[in-house]
Amino acid sequence: MGDYVRAESFGRQAIEMEPRDGWAQHAVAHVMEMQSRQRDGIAWMRANPEAWTKDSFLKIHNWWHLALFHHDLGETDEVLKLYDGPIYGDRSTLALNMVDASAILWRLYLGGVDVGERWAALAANWVPKAAAGNYAFNDAHAMMAFVGAGLDAPAQALLEAQREAMRGNDDNVAFTRDVGHPLLWPSRRSARATMTKRCA
Ligand SMILES: [Fe+2]
Repeated sequence: MGDYVRAESFGRQAIEMEPRDGWAQHAVAHVMEMQSRQRDGIAWMRANPEAWTKDSFLKIHNWWHLALFHHDLGETDEVLKLYDGPIYGDRSTLALNMVDASAILWRLYLGGVDVGERWAALAANWVPKAAAGNYAFNDAHAMMAFVGAGLDAPAQALLEAQREAMRGNDDNVAFTRDVGHPLLWPSRRSARATMTKRCA
């Protein structure tokens, strides 16, 4: 709702009561992200990671937020260290975690950073999900990996799955029609372009 002052206050209170509350940790990180308070954000996330990483399904997303603060400061080495460590060191095949992996690599890619073989490893884990077509948000992040890795076939399979999804009758129909497919459709040439560039 944009009420950052109260959000931060409530988030901090929640962490005082329960330091393992990953959602409260996350809410305060979002406040700092929205206010471009990267150094505050780094201090906030690094103060007590033992608490917010313990038995938490949200921990990778929270590590991603820390990486984002470093990225905003141009600290690419820190970003890659986090990527290769807690964000994607274990090469999770859960979409929830792969979304964050794609989202940070894509930012580096747009900034001209060579991320080496990271795209290939991540894209390989997205491939089995390429034809799922059940969540436009995941589709977008899968496509980032396919474009980054230069994989044309799964990119095409994903676009086809979206066309199929738009013929359905669930929530994802509108998401895909209004946002997901228009976002990905221009990328149909990008995967080939990346591949061509790499082969050149
Ligand atoms: Fe978040």
